[in-house]
Amino acid sequence: MPPTPETQTQEAPRALPMVRVSGLSVSFRRRGRPRRFEALRGVGFEIERGGTLGVVGESGSGKSTLARAMLRLTPATGSAEIDGLDWLAAGAGALRRARRHAQMVFQDPAGSLNPRMRVIDAVMEPAVFHRVCDGAEAARTHVTRTLESCGVPAELHQRFPHELSGGQRQRVAIARAIAPRPKLLVCDEPTSALDVSTQAQVLNLLADLRRELGLTILFISHDLAVVEHVCDSVLVMQGGEVVEQGPTEQVLGEPREKYTRLLVQSVPRRA
Ligand SMILES: Nc1ncnc2c1ncn2[C@@H]1O[C@H](COP(=O)(O)OP(=O)(O)OP(=O)(O)O)[C@@H](O)[C@H]1O
Ligand SMILES: [Mg+2]
Repeated sequence: MPPTPETQTQEAPRALPMVRVSGLSVSFRRRGRPRRFEALRGVGFEIERGGTLGVVGESGSGKSTLARAMLRLTPATGSAEIDGLDWLAAGAGALRRARRHAQMVFQDPAGSLNPRMRVIDAVMEPAVFHRVCDGAEAARTHVTRTLESCGVPAELHQRFPHELSGGQRQRVAIARAIAPRPKLLVCDEPTSALDVSTQAQVLNLLADLRRELGLTILFISHDLAVVEHVCDSVLVMQGGEVVEQGPTEQVLGEPREKYTRLLVQSVPRRA
């Protein structure tokens, strides 16, 4: 039976991947050099709704540049569709509204939190900016609940970042990122600065939030064991290009490319 207009409009958005990037390229001008440096060359990938894509590759391969380019935080060419909107082609108004739906978590939570802002205010700020709640009372409840769902107990809400541990700070940074209730979370080495047991807790938190909020996640990491654990697909980068991509068990379990094999061999495997 041919689809009716209703079934089309209902099913098309669900079938559409959350992220569809193609031909994404970035080049930087370098002081005293005649030629621009190509940090990203024709990168393409998709992330299905609710999926977690791991991005791996050596230092300088372009992982952070990829994240920044697709969120239009650095000038890029190509297209970067998030939830059906091409962020690279969108006008200022549409982009401002869309920003609510894609948030970032960085390696260094101290750097992404304002040292003079209390925990509660750091999480309140994006909720208010994106008008997530109706009224001050609702916003306060939303922020308190968001912090608690990120494992930040009430007694820490009035503290400043320097009064928290690294793990607590990262929980606050994650709470700040999910406060606008985004659809996509871009995590750039979110656990690299933490000790191993704290890393595991933060990874569990991200997994819980993914389930509870139906988040789609792009997860940049050096740690292949972590990527193997949390990602359902993987993208391998080298020199600004995609070397290999596909389901995690295929890419890391039976890599097709020599570079991926070397990367996999270079890390100790978990038993
Ligand atoms: N603003 C910039 N100006 C000039 N070159 C840049 C700029 N940002 C990044 N680069 C260069 O682009 C390349 C990719 O950098 P990027 O930060 O994306 O790598 P990465 O894969 O995230 O590395 P790491 O694992 O160390 O975080 C590097 O050679 C870097 O020096
Ligand atoms: Mg990086």
